[in-house]
Order: sequence, then C-alpha cells, then structure tokens
Amino acid sequence: MKREKSEKLFIEAEKYIPGGVNSPVRAFKSVDMPPVFVDRGKGARIYDVDGNEYTDYICSWGPLILGHASPVYYEGIQEALAKGTTFGAPTAVEVEIAKLITEAYPSMEMVRMVSSGTEATMSALRVARGYTGRNKIIKFEGCYHGHSDGLLVKSGSGTLTFGVPTSSGVTPGTAQDTLVAVYNDLDSVKALFAQNPGEIAAVIVEPVAGNMGVVAPDINFMKGLRQITEDQGTVLIFDEVITGFRLAYGGAQAVLDIKPDMTTLGKIIGGGMPVGAFGGRRDIMETVAPLGGVYQAGTLSGNPIAMKMGLNTLTYLRDHPEVYQGLEEKAKLLEAGFRENIKKTGVKAQVVRFKGMTCLFFTDQPVDSYAAVMTSDTGAYTKYFKAMLDAGNFLPPSQFEAIFISAAHTKEDIEKTIADNYQALQQLV
Ligand SMILES: Cc1ncc(COP(=O)(O)O)c(C=O)c1O
Repeated sequence: MKREKSEKLFIEAEKYIPGGVNSPVRAFKSVDMPPVFVDRGKGARIYDVDGNEYTDYICSWGPLILGHASPVYYEGIQEALAKGTTFGAPTAVEVEIAKLITEAYPSMEMVRMVSSGTEATMSALRVARGYTGRNKIIKFEGCYHGHSDGLLVKSGSGTLTFGVPTSSGVTPGTAQDTLVAVYNDLDSVKALFAQNPGEIAAVIVEPVAGNMGVVAPDINFMKGLRQITEDQGTVLIFDEVITGFRLAYGGAQAVLDIKPDMTTLGKIIGGGMPVGAFGGRRDIMETVAPLGGVYQAGTLSGNPIAMKMGLNTLTYLRDHPEVYQGLEEKAKLLEAGFRENIKKTGVKAQVVRFKGMTCLFFTDQPVDSYAAVMTSDTGAYTKYFKAMLDAGNFLPPSQFEAIFISAAHTKEDIEKTIADNYQALQQLV
C-alpha cells in the first residue's frame, strides 16, 4: 500500500507540531512508521489522504460507537449551528443530557459537563479531596486517566508505549500524593491504606482496564475496592471514560453491579465532539462551585453543539439496546477467530475480551495483570500491525491499546479481519 501523501504531510507537520501530531499515540512511533493521515470516514471505514481504504478498529479511540459520520450524530445539528455555537450561558440541551446521564447511571445523582476525559478525572479528584479534606489518592499501575499532573504516575496508554512511566514536568510534590497499587491485587490496596491511615481521599480505577491493552477485572477485587473505600470514608471513582456507554448503556458499573461514589465519562457521550463529564453522589457533588468550595469551570463546558451530538448518540443507544448485543457478538467472533488462528499458526499470543472490548497480546502468559501485559513482545506487534494495515485494517498503533468496534462493523468486516489476522500471524512464524 502506498502512502506517499501521508508521508509528505507528516514531514510538513513535524515542522510545526511536536512530533507532527496533536496526541502522542497518533505518531505511530511505537510501530516504527509515519502515521496515516485520514481524509474521511464512513461507517466502519476510514479513507486516508492517498485514497486507501481501511476497516477502522480505533474508532477515534472509543467515541464512535455508531461508526463514522452516522446521521444519528448529526440530527438537528444544522439548526443548532444556525442558532449559534456557544453562549457562555446555560442552554436547554445541557439539562436534557444531564438528565439522560443521571438516569443511565443511578450512582451519578448530579453531573457536571467538561470538554475532555482529562478534565473529568482531574476535576473528580479535586472534588474528592475537597469533600474528604484529604490529600492522597490511589491509582493503579497501567491505568490511564488523562494527562493531568497527579495522574501521570505509572499510567498506561501512550506512556506505556513510550516507556515513560512518569512524565517529566510533574513535580515530586504532586507525584508524592499519588499512591500506586497493582490492578487486580487487593492486598496492594490494603497495604497502601494501612501505610496512610485517614489520608486517602480517593481510589480511581478503570473498572475494566483499557489502557494497558484490555485487562478484565477480577470481580472480587472490584468488590473489595468498594468495601475498603466504604470502610475508610474514601471516594471510589470509576473512570468510565472508555467503558461508559460502551460495555453496556449503564457502563461497567451496571455490568459489575457495583455502585461507585463518583464516575467520570468522556468519549461516547460527546458523539465525536470534545466532551467529558464527572458526577456522583449528591452530597459529594454539592461541594462543586457555585454550590460549594471546590472550584471547577470551563468556557466551552456544556457547549450546545457538542451536547446535541452527545444527546443524539445517547438517546439512540438508550432506544437501541441491540447495539450492545451486536458489539458483544462481533467481539466474540473476533476473539474466536483470533484464538483459532493463534492455535493454527502456533504464534505466542493471547486474546482478552470483556463484553465488546478486545485485545490481542503477543505473549505466552495469560493476561490478567499489568505484569503479564508487560511480557508482551512489542516487536511482534509492530510486524503484525504493519501487515494488518497493508491488508486494510486500521488497528491501534500500539500493543497496549484496546480494539474498538462500532455498530457499523458487520460480521463480514470481522470475518475479513480474521482472515487477514491469519495471514499476518503466519508472517510472524
Ligand atoms: C480511562 C480514560 N480516562 C481518561 C482519559 C482521558 O480522556 P481525554 O483523552 O479525553 O482527555 C482516557 C483517554 O483515553 C481514558 O481512556
């Protein structure tokens, strides 16, 4: 596959934008090639600037649950644009989306809209600190919660890919309030509570880890987290920026049947626009300004165009529960096909699937922890990624990311990808 226009654009982009991209994983650095510049998308497909067609398994890293350019997102958008794009004053659509989100997530009695997942998690932590009057937080190794200072400690996603466990520019003072525990290991959490009695404001966790590849939660671990945080007066925050409205309409908390104190959302709730949200128990959320003393604000927060696209998406998902059944069926198909190919080719690899979230790891170890994830052969992933790209599959350009599918993907798309996966694995033998 030729990608000359992409290559040229990248050379130009590198002159003006750090690394040529506006978010690090897009640079394709970990797969050792220049990035693909996208021209357009439709349904499950994207088309690059050279005219190549791919089945997209990134889906903008999760937001596009209905695929690219679905008319659902755009319903009423022309009219909304004609009325004006931002007012800095409240609009009716903000009330509508807040109502819908709180109905879908009963643990979120109140919700505040922001413009990204990073803002959502950063703000939720400030609220948890304000509410408890404590300073420290616990996060898990390999979990990513956006790029705010205190959360860039042993985070996942791009920071794993680049082998930078902690970003430079984060002060030791900030990092020292972030305690890091081991995902799926309750004893590591208990030890931190024992060492920091009465000091931990919040535990923040991805209820299904999606930023070290996919690691499924041990249900006893998650229930244990709920119990310890309740006993210790610590705020349990489920970061559902990926899992919210993806695993199920009610997110991971509905699937796991665990009620966190606070939840952060992003990605899908914006229908492809920059949106995040944080919310939770009323008594906690009442500490947020202007009701309480925890300051949080945003010029474009609750932007009416973004809210309308989000509302369109969430309303569709509420009214079409079959979307979730379809996502899971397609993920199961992918899982079974990949497993069969691994067996046939003898490549050392594992498939992890949780509901509609899937990941292929190049390791011979069962993947149930960050330690197991880190045994993956990233060189093998790079070769695999390139073979899959040339066969027309747009996979995440990193071993440590989830495969995202959408309602627009068909069984035939998945079957073709399974056939391509076989060929790509053969090349690794
Ligand atoms: C679980 C989780 N939390 C937070 C974020 C940050 O969201 P954003 O990139 O919108 O700032 C991400 C981004 O991938 C995420 O996966």
